[in-house]
Amino acid sequence: MSGSLPRLVGATRVPGDKGIAHRALLLAGMAGSESSISGLPDGLDVRSTRSCLEQVGVAFVGGARTVRVTPPAEWRPGHELDAGNSGTTARLLCGALAARRCSATIVGDASLMQRPMERVAAPLRALGADVQATGGRLPLHVRGVGLRAATWEGKVPSAQVKTAFLLAATGAPGESAYREAAPTRDHLERMLPLFGLRVERDGEGWLRLRGGRPTGGRVSVPGDPSSAAALLVGAAMLPGSDLVVEGVLLNPLRLGFAAVLSRMGAEVVMASEEGLSKFEDVGSIRVRGPAELGPVTVTAEEIPSLVDEVPLLAAAAAFAVGESRFEGLAELRVKESDRLQAVGDLLAGLGVEHELEADALALKGGPSHRPCVLDAHDDHRLAMVHALVALRQPGCEVPVDPCVAVSWPGFHEKLAGLVA
Ligand code: S3P
Repeated sequence: MSGSLPRLVGATRVPGDKGIAHRALLLAGMAGSESSISGLPDGLDVRSTRSCLEQVGVAFVGGARTVRVTPPAEWRPGHELDAGNSGTTARLLCGALAARRCSATIVGDASLMQRPMERVAAPLRALGADVQATGGRLPLHVRGVGLRAATWEGKVPSAQVKTAFLLAATGAPGESAYREAAPTRDHLERMLPLFGLRVERDGEGWLRLRGGRPTGGRVSVPGDPSSAAALLVGAAMLPGSDLVVEGVLLNPLRLGFAAVLSRMGAEVVMASEEGLSKFEDVGSIRVRGPAELGPVTVTAEEIPSLVDEVPLLAAAAAFAVGESRFEGLAELRVKESDRLQAVGDLLAGLGVEHELEADALALKGGPSHRPCVLDAHDDHRLAMVHALVALRQPGCEVPVDPCVAVSWPGFHEKLAGLVA
C-alpha cells in the first residue's frame, strides 16, 4: 500500500516562531527605547499582538517580517484591544498592560472569548494589578495601578501564565519570583537579557526577576518548531519521506514531538548551527519516514514540550500499527477548540478504535483506515493535521478552511511543494 502513497522530500524553512515573536513585540513595545525585530511570521496571531500594541501607541516601521519598533513614553489605548484568535496575545498583553500601568479592555473572537483567563488574572493580582476577568473569561479589564513585588506558584503548566507574570513583574519595584508547576517554554527568560533585564533560576526552581523598564533590543526570530512539526510529522507518516527543516528553533522545551517520532521508529536527526541566534539554539531537523511506524506512549510529563503537537502525533499514531496512549491532555480541552474531542472526532471518522478520557487518549492504530470528511472547525492546528491525514489516507475529503492563516498562511502551498 505504501508504494502508492506520496512522500515528503526536500530541504525547506518555516515561518518565524510565533511564541518568540509575541514576546519580542511585547518587550519592544514596553521598552524605553527603539528595538528591531527580524524573522517575524506573518500569521494572524502575531498580527493581533502587533495591532494591539499599535492601539496603545507603539509605532512600527517596516514590513511584515522585519520591523523597527518605537515605543511611546506611556501606553494609551484608543479603544478595546482585540486579540483575535490568539490566547498568547490576550494573556501576555494583560501582563504587559499591568507593567505599563495602562487601563484597557481585551476582547477576542468567538473561540477566544470562551477560553480561561482567570489563570492569568489571579497571579497578576498578587503583584497588585487590578485585573478582572468576566466570569473567568474575556473581556479582561485592566486598570492601570502601581505594582508591588510578589511571589507566585503556578497551578497549571502554562508558559503563557508564567510569561504574563514575568512581564508584569518588570513593572514592580524589587524582586518578584514565579515557580512553575512543570517546566514550560522559556523564551522570555532567554530573551530578557537582549532587553537589559534578567531572570535567574534558583536551586528550588524559583524564577527571580528584578523589576525595571526593558531597554530597546534586537531580536532575530528563528523558525517555528511547531510549524516544522506540521511537515516533519507528515514525513514520519509517509514511508520513504526524507525531509529537512532548516533554521528552526531547537529549544528542548519545544522538541517533545521529535523524541516521540523517534520512539515511533522514524529516523530523526537534529543539528545545531553556531551563530544563528544570540539567545536560542537554532539548526536543522531531518526526518526520514520508516516503512511502518510503531505505537507510542506519551506521558503527562512530556506534554508541555509538545502541547501544540498532540493532534499531529495522535494522527501519526492512528497510522502506527499497535496501541498508543497519550496522558495529561487536560489543557487540550481549552485550546483554540477542544482539541482532545477534535482528535476523537478525527479518529471516529477514520474508523480508528479509540477511547477518550477526561485527560487521556488511547487508540489502536493500523496502516489504513476508512476515508472521511475532515472539518477543522476553524482551528489552525487541526487544519494542518487534516492536510497530513489526507495525504496518508487516500479518499479523505478536506473542505477548504482558511484558518491555517492564524499561524501559517502559506502552509498548504508549502506542503504541496514538498510532495514527491
Ligand atoms: C504558548 C504556550 C502554550 C501553547 C501556545 C503558545 C506560548 O499555551 O499552547 O500555543 O507562546 O507561551 P499554554 O501556556 O496555555 O500551555
